Amino acid sequence: MPGENPRKKILVIHGPNLNMLGKREPHIYGHESLDEINTGLQIRGDQLGLKVEIFQSNHEGGIVDKIQQAMGVCHGIVINPAAYTHTSVAIRDALAMLDIPVIEVHLSNIHKREPFRHQSMIADIAAARIAGFGSHGYMLGLEGLAKIL
Ligand code: DQA
Repeated sequence: MPGENPRKKILVIHGPNLNMLGKREPHIYGHESLDEINTGLQIRGDQLGLKVEIFQSNHEGGIVDKIQQAMGVCHGIVINPAAYTHTSVAIRDALAMLDIPVIEVHLSNIHKREPFRHQSMIADIAAARIAGFGSHGYMLGLEGLAKIL
């Protein structure tokens, strides 16, 4: 409708191995598949008046490319960088380039796990961090963005 505010665009990024959710260590990451989680995110996004785009890649460069493409287009990012959380300066640099809120999400509570998972390359540039709520963490990320945007 003319004059109506366009919906704010949110990019949700899932990092490596998250395409295997449901089959991958379900005692840690749950039984839901990524498709099921993404369906829930689209529904919640609609309820919140957000336009949600979802991207998954097992490749660091693919994630960097996607973040770059969000520049000037997206209003917020929800990202679970998965294993790249702990290693990727490239993903951190790409996120730092954007002047929009970034919500870091982890299914598991990374602080209760192996010491190498306690380190996050994006913790200090994230607007907020959510860990340990399973897939509900992504919902909380969307809700948080809807609140602050
Ligand atoms: C994860 C935690 C990471 O340490 C791990 O490498 C993942 C998933 C999580 O969502 O709990 O792949 O980001």
